[in-house]
Amino acid sequence: MQSTVSGSIYKISGPTIVAEGMAGARMYDMVKVGAEELLGEVIRLDGARAFVQVYEETAGLSVGDPVVSSGLPLSVELGPGLLGSVYDGIQRPLEVLREASGIFIRRGLVAKGLDRARLWSFEPRTKEGGLVGPGSVLGEVQETEQLLHRVLVPPGVQGQLVELLPAGEYTVDTVLGRLADGQELRMFHTWPVKVARPYLRKLDPGQPLFTGQRVLDTLFPVALGGNAIIPGGFGTGKTVVEQTLAKYCSADIIVYIGCGERGNEMTDVLDEFPHLQDPRSGRPLMERTILIANTSNMPVAAREASIYTGIAMAEYYRDQGFDVALMADSTSRWAEAMREIASRLEEMPGEEGYPTYLASRLAAFYERAGRVVPLGSEAGSSQPVLRSAEETAQQVGSVTVVGAVSPPGGDYSEPVTQASQRVVGALWALDATLAYRRHYPAINWNRSYSLYSDGLKGWFNQNVSPEWEMLRTRFFQLMKKDGELQEVVQLVGPDALQDSDKVYLEVARVARLLFLQQNAFSENDASCSYEKQLGILRSLFDFHDYASKAIAADARIDDIRETASLEQLLRLNSFSEQAFGDAESGLREQMQKEFARWK
Ligand SMILES: Nc1ncnc2c1ncn2[C@@H]1O[C@H](COP(=O)(O)OP(=O)(O)OP(=O)(O)O)[C@@H](O)[C@H]1O
Ligand SMILES: [Mg+2]
Repeated sequence: MQSTVSGSIYKISGPTIVAEGMAGARMYDMVKVGAEELLGEVIRLDGARAFVQVYEETAGLSVGDPVVSSGLPLSVELGPGLLGSVYDGIQRPLEVLREASGIFIRRGLVAKGLDRARLWSFEPRTKEGGLVGPGSVLGEVQETEQLLHRVLVPPGVQGQLVELLPAGEYTVDTVLGRLADGQELRMFHTWPVKVARPYLRKLDPGQPLFTGQRVLDTLFPVALGGNAIIPGGFGTGKTVVEQTLAKYCSADIIVYIGCGERGNEMTDVLDEFPHLQDPRSGRPLMERTILIANTSNMPVAAREASIYTGIAMAEYYRDQGFDVALMADSTSRWAEAMREIASRLEEMPGEEGYPTYLASRLAAFYERAGRVVPLGSEAGSSQPVLRSAEETAQQVGSVTVVGAVSPPGGDYSEPVTQASQRVVGALWALDATLAYRRHYPAINWNRSYSLYSDGLKGWFNQNVSPEWEMLRTRFFQLMKKDGELQEVVQLVGPDALQDSDKVYLEVARVARLLFLQQNAFSENDASCSYEKQLGILRSLFDFHDYASKAIAADARIDDIRETASLEQLLRLNSFSEQAFGDAESGLREQMQKEFARWK
């Protein structure tokens, strides 16, 4: 139960303070520091001394100032109203903060995560008298035009529902229901962010998250409920990839965490997102997005909070049966915050000054990704309370996590990249050389990998095309051969190659321009459906086959380079999804006609 402990500041060191007189305080308790009641968290205990990381600027605090522990861990409010919100790392709505204190956020400002005045139209979905438990659906609220929010009984709560309000307009903190033991149920509940929300069971990744990015979907797919990292040096395109995924990926809900990045980058996000149109519904993308902004000029300790705040929110929607994608840009800034805090605490440093628990923290974060059967989804199974099918969510939900990593100097041997790489299923390696050549997305096809591809093969063959895996394998072979031939060219010059090899080089060049490159800012090409990806691949290899046969007859490589077919092929990605089918069949006819002369 809640118990408060109050002590006073003994020492201040940057974003951390040491408080004395704190006997009884517990690890991860939230505390209020100083007269302004700055929010902080206990991160080490040593007798009656508590080491606290403070989520706000500590300037102005002095030794002797009061420190009061709440007896509760750092928690977020979970309920309708999260979607469309822009929060700081500790779930204070930026809009409310700005209104209350102008551009410079006043310290110690308390702002509730969920608006207490807003009315939501609640539709009960169960009846008084029945037994309910974690995951039971109490009712529904139309949170946004597109999203029907399920009000569920929170984890750890169960009993007989003796009271439930009828349909009506209520605020989030209205008591909607009451259990026989007196427990109150509201539209929202609070959750300690560092605790992974429980679920019934995890499912194997059997299905991909559609990203709309050819190089990712075809070559290095991430599973729905999987995790991936995008390591890349300065300016190689991490943020553009994260934002493109946020716009086009197939998740129902996006949680976007701007963690420790430059203020102007986050300003771009904050300015841009509210105007973005959802490619799926034509409605504002913000209706299914939560933004969490903790820029480099905001307090260091709140970076860590922002990561946990984001993942707890993602899990909350997962528990309602939605597919959620979480983007964290950049996890390296979070790791740097850990390093700074650890050094303030004079902890024994590990590799490159990062704390020894860096790897376990990163692993614990990425492990919160997953495709799960939420609590309450299977009536009777391992649940203490039996419920009818209508009372349960009957859904599978997922959280897919994509973390950007910023290795200094683009050197992947550094601890954050290494530790993350060990726990994630896909690695999308950004490459400075490609970025310099303006090959975007600058994803290196030799260094990137996906451990999900084998498991997803069947899904693609069944749901997209039986040719999928064959074409994908052929693509990898093409790029491998290209790499080998490029080496030969570098050693002895292009003249040493036979025309049949030159065809390979030519087709690989087309593959890079047409398939691997994808302009995030082009209307028709920013996102590419599976069908279009497949169509481009098929056309590419048809061209390769025609060209090889022509060369085997009596065509010269220059003849191939001059074909109208090649010109048409190179334009194939610029067609809209609607126009693509015709463009593809037009090209097929053109190739048939044009290559007939070399039969
Ligand atoms: N897919 C893309 N399509 C077109 N342009 C791109 C793409 N990816 C990156 N760029 C270009 O590269 C620039 C830098 O990209 P971005 O800001 O995403 O890099 P970053 O890795 O996040 O950089 P930082 O290390 O500074 O955070 C963009 O402003 C854009 O001009
Ligand atoms: Mg960036």
